[in-house]
Amino acid sequence: MSKIQKIKGVADLFPEDSARYAFMEKTAREVFSAYGYGELRIPILEKTELFCRSIGEETDVVQKEMYTFPDRKGRSLTMRPEATAGVVRAYVENKIYQPGKVTKLYTYGPMFRYERPQAGRMRQFHQIDAEIFGASEPQVDAEVLLMLSTFLSKIGLEKLSFELNSLGCPECRPLFRKALDEFFNGIDKEQLCDDCQRRVSTNPLRVLDCKNKKCRELTVDAPSIPDNLCTECRDHFDVVIALIDEAGLEYTLNPRLVRGLDYYQRTAFEVTSGDIGSQTAVAGGGRYDGLVESLGGAKKVPGIGFACGMERLAMLLEGTFTEEMDFYVALVDERAAGDALIFAEKLRNSGLKGEVGFAAKSMKAQLRHANKIGAGKCFIFGADEFENATVTVKDMTESGEQITTPRDEYFK
Ligand code: HAM
Repeated sequence: MSKIQKIKGVADLFPEDSARYAFMEKTAREVFSAYGYGELRIPILEKTELFCRSIGEETDVVQKEMYTFPDRKGRSLTMRPEATAGVVRAYVENKIYQPGKVTKLYTYGPMFRYERPQAGRMRQFHQIDAEIFGASEPQVDAEVLLMLSTFLSKIGLEKLSFELNSLGCPECRPLFRKALDEFFNGIDKEQLCDDCQRRVSTNPLRVLDCKNKKCRELTVDAPSIPDNLCTECRDHFDVVIALIDEAGLEYTLNPRLVRGLDYYQRTAFEVTSGDIGSQTAVAGGGRYDGLVESLGGAKKVPGIGFACGMERLAMLLEGTFTEEMDFYVALVDERAAGDALIFAEKLRNSGLKGEVGFAAKSMKAQLRHANKIGAGKCFIFGADEFENATVTVKDMTESGEQITTPRDEYFK
């Protein structure tokens, strides 16, 4: 019979790989809980409308990348392309909001985008996501950035670049958009890439962070977002910058950073790495003060958060992440199979981690395996040990010392 293969753009994560993911999740849990965040688990499937309304009808994600299908009753469902929309939906639906109350949540898991797969770009990928609601102060933006930076350094990634911008608010953005429209009227739009020709009328800010060389050239003199902020947005951003300067976080200001999701206002940021090929963004986020209201929640509930791409972070993690074992029980005489199994079970019950040989094999092969799994001790069950109800223990560190004792010796 023919083999069934996985679909394009998804991956099977075997122990070596999944250990990296487990390490990132564990570290995120430790770091985020130190800032008062609690874990939220949300569904993978949501109503399609949730993403259209939050991410924005004109974004690439909604236009071309969603896994959307009708369920058996004909309702349109979508496999989440990101976590923020679902977190906000859960926040609104469960009436978490109370005036003056700050809510901090994190979540992680698989996301789905129908993109062209390449290194670091998958159709099923994983994010670690953190969101904070109910606080509009610039200190929040600074703390979110610092929490992200702490998480990244705790997983061993210190050399990443933080890029920051402010995208303005519903007060100043329409004015900026007008200035941008005027600018686009003065250039030869046909020379822009196909996506940007569409974006000029649907989502003109996105043209500014198009990576296409020609689009870059044509927009060198375009008005800059940070130069056109209202006083409140300017002041907010200045305080964020002053705070992260004080905290010693290194970053660059990127006046063209726009982000691919429409819900952002004010602070927006991205973290990139030059070591993982063309897909350089390992994390991104920003403030979305209008999103709660636009998803049916209370008015003026501010929010801000970020998501890290776990596949891209995994590519940067160094070293191995599989857990080392404390012991290996080597079975040399078949007759001792039961004794060896019970002995290993008792060791585990006493709190140790280890494996046992199921079939009698040569000592050499078993010692090799004991080394491979990092076992500090190898317990040997051969003919003598079986006949005398003893066990021989070999120290697997440099000494290599070997002694034979009664088995109970280890459980006193
Ligand atoms: P995003 O920039 O679309 O933001 O995604 C965040 C990160 O997810 C990216 O920086 C990247 O590392 C990873 N990522 C995105 N698409 C793929 C893919 N196809 N394959 C592998 N990794 C990918 C968001 O999703 C926002 N929800 C972040 C946020 C949270 N903003 C506020 N709160």
